[in-house]
Amino acid sequence: MRGKFLAAGIFIALGVVAQGFWTPADAKVSLEKCTICHGKPEFRKILVDGKIRDLFATEDSLKGSVHEKKTCVDCHFDVSEIPHRQRPKRVTCTHCHYKGNAEGAPQSDAYLEYFGSVHGKAIAKGNTKAPLCQDCHGSHAIFKVKDPGSHVSRLSVAETCGRCHIEIYAQYKTSIHGVALARGITEAPACTGCHGEHKIYDHKDPKSSVYATHVAEQCSTCHASVLIMSKFGIEAEQVATYQNSFHGVASGFGSRTVANCASCHGIHDIRPPEDPLSMVNPKNVPTTCGKCHPGANPNFALGKMHVDSHSKESGIIYYTALFFKYLTIGTMLALIAHIFLDMYGRTRRLRGE
Ligand code: HEC
Ligand code: HEC
Ligand code: HEC
Ligand code: HEC
Ligand code: HEC
Ligand code: HEC
Ligand code: HEC
Ligand code: HEC
Ligand code: HEC
Repeated sequence: MRGKFLAAGIFIALGVVAQGFWTPADAKVSLEKCTICHGKPEFRKILVDGKIRDLFATEDSLKGSVHEKKTCVDCHFDVSEIPHRQRPKRVTCTHCHYKGNAEGAPQSDAYLEYFGSVHGKAIAKGNTKAPLCQDCHGSHAIFKVKDPGSHVSRLSVAETCGRCHIEIYAQYKTSIHGVALARGITEAPACTGCHGEHKIYDHKDPKSSVYATHVAEQCSTCHASVLIMSKFGIEAEQVATYQNSFHGVASGFGSRTVANCASCHGIHDIRPPEDPLSMVNPKNVPTTCGKCHPGANPNFALGKMHVDSHSKESGIIYYTALFFKYLTIGTMLALIAHIFLDMYGRTRRLRGE
């Protein structure tokens, strides 16, 4: 309570001082004017819920960032008088970031997709829990994407999404992909590797990269690449064998009820088959298939799932495929022979022979 009064005291005192030598008539609001108050490390506000909001910000806050040449009011452009009577609004990044801008910001509008994304639409509907640009990119410490200090760099972005998607992040961290990324393996997908960066949609939206019938395609960007997978000793044929399987063919025709990669492997908790917690560990396969094939017993799920019927290593499946291949050829030959013999007989009868 005392802190609150003290803080309020400081605000008023500083306000009076500031107003003494600076009036709203001043056209340019310079950095020094902001740091009179915001340059004090102890400058903070106690919120109604008792939490403390740190209001300390100086030129140093921007140092090394992509915006270090910008002044405070370039971004906080609604602050036009000191002391500012109202709490400044949240910063609009697209004030400078648009194609054709004269501010020196990159001439790109790739992030425009954000406005049509699940997040952008939620904000437009007034959901303040959804992210604005700065909730992903940071406020003062914004760096180029490739910079390891960036909140959206390959290695940091999962943690950034995870600030809001807490449970999913916790699962992801223990998955093969999360573990690999934490070890610095940049080939492994962060959240954005499957969902995209700005064009993130609801998973039930057909535009989404993780919509049921798009999942296989999304996993394939890495798992169909021999170049990437050979580094980790993982087969790259999983995608092709899936596409040739009953599930894959049906999914290709648009079925959303058949299994996609994630129905068998999990989503944010994907683990290698030898991990006892993996949904495709031999022990767990009957339960995994059983989600959709009620009463699936261990026999139903017996045998390898990703089989290439053209390879001898596939055992019985290879020989079954071989048997059916020759059976088909044999039947076709017999049929053709039958037609020829029949035609031969008919012509002879017509000629009256
Ligand atoms: C006289 C002291 C004073 C000066 C000078 C001052 N501010 Fe503030 N500022 C405050 C106070 C007090 C608050 C808290 C307002 C509130 O939350 O109701 C604040 C809040 C803010 C916030 C919002 C923080 C939040 O909660 O998101 C921003 C941004 C800000 N100031 C920017 C500036 C800028 C930019 C300048 C210089 C042009 C400036 N301020 C100058 C006192 C000052
Ligand atoms: C690149 C744009 C940019 C510049 C330049 C900038 N700010 Fe900010 N500032 C932000 C963003 C974004 C936030 C987060 C709140 C929001 O969403 O608007 C923020 C938040 C703040 C806050 C609230 C406390 C906090 O850290 O969240 C204060 C105070 C503040 N800025 C003061 C300043 C001062 C003083 C300067 C000049 C030294 C400055 N800002 C320069 C973008 C900027
Ligand atoms: C006052 C104009 C201005 C505002 C407002 C602004 N930016 Fe920038 N931004 C720039 C400029 C100029 C650059 C280019 C800096 C450079 O290349 O040296 C830039 C660069 C960037 C980059 C680096 C792009 C790259 O090359 O990879 C990112 C990311 C970025 N800004 C994000 C934001 C975000 C997020 C906000 C809102 C919090 C924001 N900006 C607000 C002017 C602005
Ligand atoms: C949900 C999180 C998120 C939101 C919200 C978001 N971004 Fe990004 N942004 C990213 C990620 C992740 C990347 C990195 C892309 C990559 O790895 O190449 C990125 C990259 C960028 C870049 C640099 C590359 C480029 O495309 O030029 C800019 C500039 C940028 N964002 C601006 C914005 C602006 C402006 C907004 C708001 C209109 C915004 N972002 C909203 C996550 C986000
Ligand atoms: C390997 C690919 C992959 C990665 C990596 C990934 N996701 Fe997902 N995510 C998916 C798929 C596939 C779905 C759709 C699940 C479904 O259809 O039920 C999904 C669904 C979601 C959903 C909506 C469904 C729900 O359970 O709420 C959210 C939110 C989400 N992901 C956030 C994240 C976040 C945050 C991260 C990073 C920590 C992440 N994802 C990493 C593939 C991935
Ligand atoms: C500031 C908090 C915040 C951040 C940061 C954030 N999100 Fe979200 N996200 C939300 C909220 C809130 C929703 C729900 C929007 C709605 O539908 O109203 C959402 C929705 C989603 C959905 C759709 C959920 C569904 O049911 O399919 C996905 C996918 C998603 N976010 C992924 C991500 C990814 C990936 C990142 C990081 C690049 C990220 N989010 C960063 C708050 C956040
Ligand atoms: C951005 C690339 C990328 C995407 C997208 C991706 N993965 Fe992976 N995945 C990897 C890498 C790299 C590894 C190897 C990590 C390691 O071994 O450390 C891996 C490992 C795996 C493993 C463990 C294999 C083993 O035997 O160790 C499975 C299972 C897996 N991924 C399934 C999936 C599924 C299912 C999807 C789609 C929902 C998917 N992955 C999307 C890159 C990716
Ligand atoms: C997401 C749900 C789902 C999962 C998980 C799933 N399947 Fe299926 N599967 C289907 C659907 C739907 C069909 C279409 C035919 C039907 O309704 O039985 C099908 C068809 C099949 C077929 C061919 C047609 C038939 O009924 O004989 C086989 C074989 C099969 N699945 C085996 C498996 C095995 C083995 C597993 C576990 C490793 C599995 N499935 C996991 C949904 C699933
Ligand atoms: C019907 C269930 C099912 C579907 C659908 C499925 N898998 Fe699998 N997957 C398995 C099972 C079971 C294993 C364990 C090994 C085996 O039986 O082949 C496995 C193994 C794997 C492995 C590990 C291989 C290795 O060398 O260690 C990867 C990677 C993989 N699958 C990726 C995928 C991808 C990518 C897709 C989608 C294109 C997919 N799977 C679709 C059930 C499935």
